[in-house]
Amino acid sequence: MSDIEAIVEWYLLSGVEDFCADKPMNVLQPAETPAAKAQNPATVENDAVRPAITPLSQINMAASRNAEELCQKAQTLDDLKAMVENFDGCSLKFSASSTVFGYGNPQAEVLIIGEAPGSDEDRLGEPFVGKSGQLLTKMLQTIGLNRHDCYITNILPWRPPGNRTPTDEEIVTCLPFLKRQIELVDPKIIFILGRSAANALLDNNESISSLRGHFIDYTTEKGKVIPTLSSFHPAYLLRTAAQKAKSWSDLLRLKRKLEEI
Ligand code: URA
Repeated sequence: MSDIEAIVEWYLLSGVEDFCADKPMNVLQPAETPAAKAQNPATVENDAVRPAITPLSQINMAASRNAEELCQKAQTLDDLKAMVENFDGCSLKFSASSTVFGYGNPQAEVLIIGEAPGSDEDRLGEPFVGKSGQLLTKMLQTIGLNRHDCYITNILPWRPPGNRTPTDEEIVTCLPFLKRQIELVDPKIIFILGRSAANALLDNNESISSLRGHFIDYTTEKGKVIPTLSSFHPAYLLRTAAQKAKSWSDLLRLKRKLEEI
């Protein structure tokens, strides 16, 4: 085995699956000192946008405006899917193997939103098909919902390398695609999984523990009001079984609300 193969094998055994970052870096160069960093206009400009400015609606990005304009031209989910596949404004696209667009019934009553594709979704091109997806399918079944009758999507259509948390910029850039999917499906209710998706759609910075279990209205760009219910992400439930009881009570709330509206 060559040295390079041995290093790659060692990385894989350590759980490192991706070998790319958003920006190229010279690992042999000494790190920039804080003083030099402050003088570097590129860093200052980037930092002006980057620090946790929430709500996300305060982040103004050309790529996002571009996505917004494009989306308004999409009259069907197929149009929109083609637009997302051709969109080059988010660098995640270039490290992902596939574009994972929404899946399911285009006239679904329940629209479900997760964070971003993981490795299984990236490989198969469909949201929530890995371990979290299998748990989600079972969760839905407990309240009489079939995964194929719902519409399932993510805030991001591309997998962040190594499943890292998406940056605010990536979310803001791709948000118009999610919002247009909501308008085109026009569901009765939106079920949001996890904090990233809840913060992105509801434009706040609350923890999932405080958001979960409450109905919060989401208003589309066209003024349609749709109730949302947030709950824990299935990936979190797989790690923290003790929270399944709260998740179960959220599912029951979802079921009752669906019967009411
Ligand atoms: N986690 C998500 O948030 N979405 C997926 O599609 C898969 C895992």
